[in-house]
Amino acid sequence: MIDKAVEKLNNSEVIAIPTETVYGLAARIDDEIALNKIFTTKQRPFFNPLIIHVASLDMARDCVSHWPDALQVLAQTFWPGPLTLILPKNDKINPIITASHETVGIRMPNHPLAIELIKKIDCPLAAPSANKFKKVSPTNAKDVINEFNGNIFVLDGGQCSIGIESTIVGIEDGNIVIYRPGSISKTDIEHVLINEKFTIDVKYKESPISPGHLKDHYQPNIPIILSWDMAYAKINEDDMEWFPSDDPAIVARVLYSKFREAENLNARSLIIQMDSRLKSFPSWAGILNRLDKAKSYEY
Ligand code: TXA
Ligand code: MG
Repeated sequence: MIDKAVEKLNNSEVIAIPTETVYGLAARIDDEIALNKIFTTKQRPFFNPLIIHVASLDMARDCVSHWPDALQVLAQTFWPGPLTLILPKNDKINPIITASHETVGIRMPNHPLAIELIKKIDCPLAAPSANKFKKVSPTNAKDVINEFNGNIFVLDGGQCSIGIESTIVGIEDGNIVIYRPGSISKTDIEHVLINEKFTIDVKYKESPISPGHLKDHYQPNIPIILSWDMAYAKINEDDMEWFPSDDPAIVARVLYSKFREAENLNARSLIIQMDSRLKSFPSWAGILNRLDKAKSYEY
């Protein structure tokens, strides 16, 4: 399986790869034909930059011109893991990857097959989530196959253990900025920086260059109704209702499968019953961000 993946990547093809967050649609970063195929396959606009995946810190260093100390500490602490760092790029990085911006998003995934694959081809892989533009990210091989009607080779690495996309972090005017919340929380990041004696603020900010902030991103094909403290009651048999657990790790793992399950059942809507007290917990920020983008109605 992995040899076939290597062969396809070395033949300018794009393939789906497993990571601990969601499946990615991957191409070698030094292969312009394959990089272009990522955009056409996903129907993704060229102005939306790709993140790249490495198998070692050295491989990452080889792609950047400079690495701020605070972001170095975060890489050492959280890699391999669900953290993407926005760093100043060097000339190795094709402008197609960064949509001509001077920074590049990099992460080291925590999935043995992904790491083995990247080591074997000895080249970082550019990989956005393996879904059509604005749609729900796939968290298992079957969902990728359905997303692209069986036209994409999938390196099957089982169910993703995290289930939502990585936390994206950069540095702006001396502050740490979280562009996209994920399972590594603001508090997790603050603790590491304080322990390492950095006096640096951590803030949330939607990335100006990232369409992930579009209101209709991560949107399933059926309406999602977000109901706080049982404000909306199920009134129709054809509605699907979900009461998520109180453990954010479990909810993140099943979130996108729930969306797809409701789509496949042709439910009239998916009603998600949430407890409003969760809004104050940093560990829920990634999930609440995805729900906010996926929802059609909120009560
Ligand atoms: O967990 C993940 O991050 C998954 C897995 C496959 O690694 N990947 C993923 O890629 O979610 P994608 O392309 O679906 O989301 C990455 C986001 C996009 O919204 C993109 O605009 C933003 O990262 N991004 C990429 N490069 C950037 C940069 N230089 N500055 C700011 N945002 C950037
Ligand atoms: Mg995506």
